[in-house]
Amino acid sequence: MKIFIDSANLTDIEEALKRGFAEGITTNPSLLAKEPKGSFESHIGAIIDLINKYKPGIHLSVEVFSRDKEIILKQAREFIREFGYPQISIKVQVGWGELETIKKLSEMGISVNCTACMSVTQAVMAARAGAKYVSLFWGRIRDGGTDAAMLKEREETKAKKALDDADFDPIRVVSATRRIFDESKINSEIIAGSMRSVVDVRDARLAGAHIVTVPPKFFPDMISHFKTDQVVNQFLTDFEKWLS
Ligand code: E4P
Repeated sequence: MKIFIDSANLTDIEEALKRGFAEGITTNPSLLAKEPKGSFESHIGAIIDLINKYKPGIHLSVEVFSRDKEIILKQAREFIREFGYPQISIKVQVGWGELETIKKLSEMGISVNCTACMSVTQAVMAARAGAKYVSLFWGRIRDGGTDAAMLKEREETKAKKALDDADFDPIRVVSATRRIFDESKINSEIIAGSMRSVVDVRDARLAGAHIVTVPPKFFPDMISHFKTDQVVNQFLTDFEKWLS
């Protein structure tokens, strides 16, 4: 199981990187917008400096911030040139227009992480277009089945049989995508994002995600267990008694 850090916060990234378990970092425009205002380029540069300090060569996904095909291509090339980080992957959102861009970028040898995927068909089409990674948004897939504000869209989509109830179960979406990738010998890797709990992290991996990208707030709980605390305290008190 590969764990990525889903954050743009430099302190959180450093705290995770210094502990050695993370194999990559994913950012997105909303995560960057939580950080103090500043230059996008220097913020990504600071993330790369942390990677080079603690774990050189791990994955870094940086997302474009446009829906315009030409601008996406331009931004992707700029990210590659400006950041000069060989393991960078350009996050391009999934979509009909974007597939063409994903294909072009992949043919240029640029690693693409096709992001905001919610369904099996999106993930498979993105991978076939050349995306090296497809990001399936676990929590948002589940939210899609209940989100009151999206009732109309959900009912319309179900009425035309573009989706059904199974498409709002992230376990089924990720496991079906993984099965298709394996059976069809598609080499793209599935990144499960949009984690809402530690249980989601475990379930996403068990469902077949190659990688799970996790908000740093979950890391302490992922490494803790109340029975661990109990037994470690017991060892220490037993030994102290024996010493005294
Ligand atoms: C993944 O790459 C995304 O950054 C992220 O997981 C989005 O999830 P959320 O906005 O639903 O938390």
